[in-house]
Amino acid sequence: MTSTTTVAPPGLRLGWIGLGSMGSAMAKNIHRYLSSQGREPLRFFNRTASRGDTLAALGGIRRQDVVQVASESDVIFISASDDKAVESIIAQILDSGDVTDKIVVDTTTIHPDTTKALAAKLKDRGAEFVAAPVFGATPVAEAGQLLVAFGGSNAAYEKVGPFLKGVIAREVLLVGEEPEKATLLKTTGNFLMAGLMELIAEAHVFAEKTGLGSAALERLLELNFGTVAHSDSVRMTTGVYAPGKDQAPWSDLELALKDVGHGVDCAARAGVRLEVANTALEHLRRAKGYSERNGGRRLDSSSLYGVVREDAGLDFRTEFIRKRDGEE
Ligand SMILES: NC(=O)c1ccc[n+]([C@@H]2O[C@H](COP(=O)([O-])OP(=O)(O)OC[C@H]3O[C@@H](n4cnc5c(N)ncnc54)[C@H](OP(=O)(O)O)[C@@H]3O)[C@@H](O)[C@H]2O)c1
Repeated sequence: MTSTTTVAPPGLRLGWIGLGSMGSAMAKNIHRYLSSQGREPLRFFNRTASRGDTLAALGGIRRQDVVQVASESDVIFISASDDKAVESIIAQILDSGDVTDKIVVDTTTIHPDTTKALAAKLKDRGAEFVAAPVFGATPVAEAGQLLVAFGGSNAAYEKVGPFLKGVIAREVLLVGEEPEKATLLKTTGNFLMAGLMELIAEAHVFAEKTGLGSAALERLLELNFGTVAHSDSVRMTTGVYAPGKDQAPWSDLELALKDVGHGVDCAARAGVRLEVANTALEHLRRAKGYSERNGGRRLDSSSLYGVVREDAGLDFRTEFIRKRDGEE
């Protein structure tokens, strides 16, 4: 189930499409690895060109569009926001000419049905679609410590594996040849994450209202509930859940709405009702309402915390945030 080490063919050319928070971190780590191995630099494209400046400064090769990356690469990684973005990128890859034997590795979190449909389209043209969704927030991606679920053939893993474990990931979970199994696992992970986030938000509000205080709770989470629970707590106590004007969310609220929505949808079709995920989803939707009432303020996927606060009669923003934003 977990990975073994393989060696990629020396001449393999790698391309990267999508340099958002996650894509940028992963692409930089892969590029650094390629450089350290004396391999060809990473070719890359991002819709907003400026987001590629850091990678270009590191020696990555900027390409003018998806088609150029696709035609010059044997393995094409994608990190985009959602299903529509990936569908559009795949359509452009298919328009790039002969794609026989190319491998497209999609690290985006998309619906398992979308994964399945895209895999079929690429197969029809002699290419392979690997679903490689990732677990871990942006700082984890920067540190090359993600967990990757890999859904694709053994042959594809032989080629792509060397750029995953030890480069962008601490471990790779091999879920079999059907790519949609990897996005299904990611979807499962997402509603677990959202449920945990909900629970920690409630615990923090409880600690604040009872006078226990957030510091004691955060220490308990750190010592007894593991790194994910502690990281969720830090997102709340350090104001990441509602970033300041010059800060970016670790993971945008829109992404959480998409991700938890996928889980609820997959479950409903399997005849399962995800009660906890539904509660989290409702709070995420209300957080979006808060964002809309506040000039489209960008929020993190942990911003359901603000809604749980409001339901307990507290301000959406903690005292920390109000001070940080210069409002107190
Ligand atoms: N952030 C996290 O903590 C986290 C953790 C695990 C998994 N994920 C998943 O990883 C994926 C990326 O997340 P992120 O946080 O990096 O998102 P992000 O910062 O919002 O970046 C999204 C990327 O998608 C590109 N994009 C969007 N629509 C596009 C289109 N129609 N055509 C081409 N490119 C398009 C954006 O290009 P522009 O720069 O031009 O806008 C940008 O490069 C998402 O599926 C997310 O659910 C995120």
